[in-house]
Parts: sequence; structure tokens; C-alpha cells
Amino acid sequence: MAKLTINENKKLGKINAEIYGQFSEHLGRCIYEGLYVGEDSEIPNVNGMRIDVVNALKDLKIPVLRWPGGCFADEYHWKDGIGPKAERKKMINTNWGGVLEDNSFGTHEFMELCEQLGCKTYINGNVGSGTVQEMSEWIEYMTFDGVSPMSELRKKNGREKPWKVDYFGIGNESWGCGGNMTPDYYGNLYRRYQSFVKDYAGDGNIHKICCGPNADDYHWTEEVLKKTYDHTQKELHGMMDGLSLHYYTVPGDWTNKGSATEFDEKDWYRTIKKALYIEELIEKHSHIMDQYDPEKKIGMIVDEWGCWFDVEFGTNPGFLYQQNTMRDALVACASLNIFNKHCNRVKMANIAQMINVLQAMILTEGNKMLLTPTYYVFHMYRNHQNAELLESDMEISEIGTDDDKIPDLSESVSMDEAGNIHITLGNLSPVQENPIEIRFFEKRAEHILATILTGPMKGHNTFEEPEAIRETEFTDFVITDSGNICLTIPPCSVLHLEVKS
Ligand code: AHR
Repeated sequence: MAKLTINENKKLGKINAEIYGQFSEHLGRCIYEGLYVGEDSEIPNVNGMRIDVVNALKDLKIPVLRWPGGCFADEYHWKDGIGPKAERKKMINTNWGGVLEDNSFGTHEFMELCEQLGCKTYINGNVGSGTVQEMSEWIEYMTFDGVSPMSELRKKNGREKPWKVDYFGIGNESWGCGGNMTPDYYGNLYRRYQSFVKDYAGDGNIHKICCGPNADDYHWTEEVLKKTYDHTQKELHGMMDGLSLHYYTVPGDWTNKGSATEFDEKDWYRTIKKALYIEELIEKHSHIMDQYDPEKKIGMIVDEWGCWFDVEFGTNPGFLYQQNTMRDALVACASLNIFNKHCNRVKMANIAQMINVLQAMILTEGNKMLLTPTYYVFHMYRNHQNAELLESDMEISEIGTDDDKIPDLSESVSMDEAGNIHITLGNLSPVQENPIEIRFFEKRAEHILATILTGPMKGHNTFEEPEAIRETEFTDFVITDSGNICLTIPPCSVLHLEVKS
């Protein structure tokens, strides 16, 4: 029997709610069809936003939403997306399928969506093909309350009061689709562009995100931080609030990524192993950040992560539409546990992407929608948001193939404001159940609420069978005389236990 030991008296740091953030790009059917159908659509909507989708997302307590890209951000010119819709410029979405972008979803619509979701805003600016003036005017348009050309334009377009921009990204993947820059060149540009991201509200709450590395590109992290480090102040803070990291779990290689639904146990272990690799990336990039920012004032912002498979057969290859199985659920479970455990450095993470693209929460088809296994993981983990990470230690065994060894279990534990303890556990074996005993330092468990997500490794929801996989109540545990919890976690499962205070 594996033992999970929890020290409820040892709090290791606050789990920023933003770790449970989302990403929505003008890509495939994420924005259009997925979130936004327009005011005249037959699909029930409020100001163009799908009611069914928004309601389902509200249950996840989404803390923050990133927009408009991704690669799209560095060819997006925000002024094309304001004013009367019929007069908005049309453009080609060169990154994603070469389709026509009519700009009917722009700044006002994004802010409306965030208001409906009740979440913070993370806007990614254009450095690759945009000017400093364009970026600074966007900030002025969105956040300035006084009299100025941009605030007058905003008012003319129907919005009197400024909005709040919580996070602003200065370029996306500037090492790649965002301009193919060297770290040295980007570092200098970053210094310049960020100077014009003015804090018009004067509350210091517009957080500037610097474009960080792709996966294991430690050279990028080192060079960009070296360039942006303020030698007069001897710190980075002020120059930036966060450094991004992008990492996707791709079971094969980029030319043959592997199917989302057709895979065997070997593929399972390889995928989970690749997902777990994000811990090494966080640790190594953090180590570099520590040299410039030992007090950890700068957050690591994992603003793109998740599984990336081959697109579903017969769909536009540029739309990145993929199914979502229990394998995705276990990738989400293990990744979120890792982010929780590194909450002293990881301040935000945005899974890619929210609807109909890559590892999505929701898939839609016309007026139908379904919740994916990944959706339920985010639902089960929502109580970790803003809770205190607790010290925990899990006894694990190695499982897998000769090539791909992984731990059999993944966990993280937190305490919410009311003193309730939240344990999220994943059984990473697709075949083997696992008996576990959970012990506390002093506490004796009395009242427990629990839910489980379980199914065959390839199990997923379809529009014909939308509830094949869903979160259900779990009561199969025993509380021992000494207040420990004994249970057996089925193979290929995610479990959330709430131990009442
Ligand atoms: O999420 C899809 C794409 O992946 C994003 O547009 C880009 O930033 C990354 O390469």
C-alpha cells in the first residue's frame, strides 16, 4: 500500500489562482463558433457569447484568460477589431489555415467575454509586426480614464469607463512565429516596448509579461534576463512581472505527433513521461531566474501548455482540432500537481486552448457542446485556487516500459481559507489499481467529500455519447480509528478529496 503523508501544519506558499488560467486564440474554432457566435446567431447567446459554453466555463471558476494569441498576436492590429462590425477590416489568418478573419471579435468583445466569465484579462501585444505606438495606444484605449485621443475613441465606440488589463504580454514566441528574433535583439526590444505599457490606472496592477523560452531553451532565458536586468536598480522587477514558458506534450515528433484517440500503452507511458518533463524545465529555468531574481518577485508564466496531437481526421490541419481522452486528463492532473508544487515560482499557467483547439475544455459542433475529461480535471482542482500548498510526500513506484519509466502516482495537497484540505491524486497507470493510505501530521480525518474521474485510457466523450466520461461521487474510502484515510484508486483515474476542517 502506497503512503501519502501530509503535514497540515506546514504551508509552503500560496497557489496563485492564475495557475488554472486559460488561453483563447483566433485559431480554428476557438473564438468563432466555440465562444463567439455573434448576436444574430440562432445559438442562444448574450452579446454574441454562447450561453451554454459560458455557463460551463463559469463552473470552472476561470481566473484569467489570455488572448488574442499565440502566433496570431504578432499579426493582430487591434484597431482593425473596433468600431462598427460591418466596417471592420478583414484579414487573412496566415498562421492558422489562411482563413478570413473578419475581426468581429475584438477588444470590446474580449472584455465582454471576461466580464461574463468573471475572470482577469491577459492581453498579448504585437511586437513582431506592430509598432511601439500601436501597443501604447492599445493600452491607452483600454485603460485610460481621462481625456485623450484613444479614450475618446473608446467612448465613441460605446465604452465610457476604462477596462482593467491585468496582464499584458510583450510579444509571443518572439524566438519563432513572433519574429524569429535572437534573445539579444528581443531583450532590447522588450526594454523599449515595455516602457510604453503605461500604468494609467496608477495602481501598479498591469503586469508585464516578457516572452520567455521554448521548452529547454535555457540560452534564451539567460540572455533575455541578462539584457533586461536593470543594472542601476540591480533587479528585474519594474521591468517585468513575469517570464513566459511554452511547453507542449507531443508523444511523437512535430511531423508525426500521434493520434489523440488511437494509442497503446507504450504511447501512454511516453506521453505521460513527456508531460512530467515540465518539472525539469521549471526547475532549470527557475534556477536561472533565481540568479537575477532571488526573491522570486518575477513569476514564471507557463502561458501555453498541454497535449498536442495530430488533428482529427477530415478536419482542417490549420485548426488544431483534437479529441481529448483520459490520457489528456492524466496529463492535466500531473501537470497541475507540478505547478502547485512549484507555486513559489509558477504564478500563472494557461492551458492551450479553451475551446475546440488542442487540449480543450469544451468541444462544440453547431449548437451542441461536450465537456472533455480535461474539463473535469479543472473542475476537480478548482479549490486549489488561492489555497496554501501543504507539505506532502507520496511513496511511489516506477512503472512503464524499458524506454519510458514514470512514477505510478501524482499528487498535490492544499488548504483553503476555511481550513479544508484538498488532495488531488492521479493514478498514472492505465492498468493497475493502487491502494493508498493517507496520513496527516496531527489531524484526524472525519468528514470527507470526494469525486473521481475514471475510465479506460482511450475513453472520451463524443457528440453521440457526451457523458461517457464524467466526474462522479467517490465514497469508496475508509477512515481508520487513527483518522487516516484508506482507499484504492482505480487505474487511469483522477481523484479529489476534500477533508473538511
Ligand atoms: O497554441 C497554438 C500555437 O502554439 C500558438 O499560437 C503558438 O504560440 C504556439 O506555437
